[in-house]
Amino acid sequence: MRRRVLQSQTIAKVCEIKQLQKDVFSLKVETELKHKEQSIPKAGQFYMLKSRPSRVLLTRPISVYKVRLLDASGKELASHADCLQETFPAVQDAHVLELEFLILQKGEGTEDLCNLQVGLSIDLIGPLGNHFFKPSESLSGAKNSKAFAEREAAKEANTENQLPPSVAIVGGGIGIAPVSGFAQGLENESYDFYASFKSGTYGIENVQAKNLYITTDDGSVGVHGMLPAVLTADTLKEKKYTLLYACGPLPMLAYLQKICLEAGVQAWLSMEEKMGCGVGACLGCTIKTTEGNRQCCKAGPIFQGDKLIF
Ligand SMILES: Cc1cc2nc3c(=O)[nH]c(=O)nc-3n(C[C@H](O)[C@H](O)[C@H](O)COP(=O)(O)OP(=O)(O)OC[C@H]3O[C@@H](n4cnc5c(N)ncnc54)[C@H](O)[C@@H]3O)c2cc1C
Ligand code: FES
Repeated sequence: MRRRVLQSQTIAKVCEIKQLQKDVFSLKVETELKHKEQSIPKAGQFYMLKSRPSRVLLTRPISVYKVRLLDASGKELASHADCLQETFPAVQDAHVLELEFLILQKGEGTEDLCNLQVGLSIDLIGPLGNHFFKPSESLSGAKNSKAFAEREAAKEANTENQLPPSVAIVGGGIGIAPVSGFAQGLENESYDFYASFKSGTYGIENVQAKNLYITTDDGSVGVHGMLPAVLTADTLKEKKYTLLYACGPLPMLAYLQKICLEAGVQAWLSMEEKMGCGVGACLGCTIKTTEGNRQCCKAGPIFQGDKLIF
């Protein structure tokens, strides 16, 4: 069931904080839903966060990694997958939204968030931005691709289930958070997942991909090297992907744009632009697209790959 999306500015309580790597933390917070239509976030959306107190003035954009709906006693009413598939019960006052974020310490804003302790509070504005469409909803846009035509032909010949999954999901570094959260809301093994890290891994423990490919710069896990070691235009063609979803550093997204254009695969890329307000008021997050300048926080953060100008 569809629900109207409302953003809110609220205070959330830290209920868990875990160090995953030297500079990467998972932060779980809970906030009471104040009114029925307060929104449950969708995959790929983000919140503006700031610790209380904080050394920085502005809140910082952080993607939703996981979400659950709880009742006032802490009992789960809707799992992460239920929330993403919008199969949760009608939200009532006093229901609690549990949000989990993965945070990479960069400067003072994220450092303050990573130094929080259970029981302390944060400022929270959101959910903000657009979201990843499920493959079934995105496919219509990929009708010009060769892979789409091949799948249609296979459907007619009733050989579709002999085709490998048509969806590739790619996360680089802390960009793993929104795409891993998205993947965990999809049917198990309905996609291939590519994860690239500097060293070690995080955020992919519950990803149920048909094929999981990992690269690390230092070779500590998976293939030694960066994303191109496992994903090229030829790989996209061989695996007959129809759609690709990604979030990660800009050079990785630019590379994905290039190989997706070459292979005729539709890409949905989540951009991590610097943000001041997160709600379209400051123009601090303007990016260039083939359709003119766009505010990443309002029109994005997810854009169709071929429309971005890097
Ligand atoms: C949609 C979106 C989702 C994101 N999701 C995640 C996530 O899930 N996890 C995660 O760890 N990171 C995420 N980020 C990146 C995160 O927002 C930045 O790393 C964080 O804002 C850096 O803030 P800081 O105070 O720690 O560092 P700072 O040291 O304050 O910032 C690092 C650099 O960015 C500049 N900067 C910071 N804020 C602004 C601003 N408002 N305007 C201009 N320049 C600025 C600073 O000048 C500095 O050079 C996301 C970003 C976006 C846009
Ligand atoms: S962050 Fe202010 S307009 Fe986008």
